[in-house]
Amino acid sequence: MQPGMLVSPATMGLTIRLDEVHHEYGRTEEAGTVTALENISLEIPAGDFAVLMGPSGSGKSTILNLIGAVDRPTRGRVMLGDREISSMSERDLTLVRRMKIGFIFQFFNLIPTLTVRENIEFPLALGGERGGMRERVDRVLDEIALGHRASHYPNELSGGEMQRVAIGRAVVHDPPLLLADEPTGNLDTRTGERILELIRSIHQSRNPTVVMATHSDRAASFGDYVIDVIDGTVGRREPR
Ligand SMILES: Nc1ncnc2c1ncn2[C@@H]1O[C@H](COP(=O)(O)OP(=O)(O)OP(=O)(O)O)[C@@H](O)[C@H]1O
Ligand SMILES: [Mg+2]
Repeated sequence: MQPGMLVSPATMGLTIRLDEVHHEYGRTEEAGTVTALENISLEIPAGDFAVLMGPSGSGKSTILNLIGAVDRPTRGRVMLGDREISSMSERDLTLVRRMKIGFIFQFFNLIPTLTVRENIEFPLALGGERGGMRERVDRVLDEIALGHRASHYPNELSGGEMQRVAIGRAVVHDPPLLLADEPTGNLDTRTGERILELIRSIHQSRNPTVVMATHSDRAASFGDYVIDVIDGTVGRREPR
């Protein structure tokens, strides 16, 4: 297969905008509410690789879940490109997640009963994709250097290999937005470095907007700039 033959090389990234976003969890009588984000406003231009850094509990995953159409804010607006996702129905959010977003998690979240190939195919199948599925998955297997493991199951892989499969699954549908929540948090330094290089190479070849949460300065250095998240508020550091 010729590289780049089947999928257009450049995904147009999406601009992300949060306007006065406030988020609370748990409106139960027993637990009360937790304020996770306090009226934050933030813009991440299309195609940027932004890094969220901050102490545990500061709100990084909450931000990723709101821009990843996993959750809707208690108040405020979340825009992806020219679409406001904060007011969408569950059904529309599901479509946005399937079509526009790739999500990489700390604990990989692969489906244990599916092979490597089937795990990567999964978002295409969900999106009702028919033609060219095999070729697209082959291209991704090539990109993550796991072609030789296509018919293996996740429990037969190392942690770094599992994360590579998870990255393959996150990008196979060429999403304009790639989100990563501590993608190296569960890996040793060297394996983590390979994962970060893979994310960087995907950012460069497919050009999605990338937002990554991390505790690691080394991981942060792979991004264009760092957004500090402290106690549910955000501040932007100067670009490097
Ligand atoms: N489902 C939930 N129900 C209630 N509170 C929650 C829930 N999820 C998160 N929180 C609270 O919201 C705040 C922000 O959590 P969040 O997971 O966004 O932090 P984080 O910056 O990702 O932390 P970490 O670095 O530990 O992953 C925390 O105080 C947390 O306890
Ligand atoms: Mg988190």
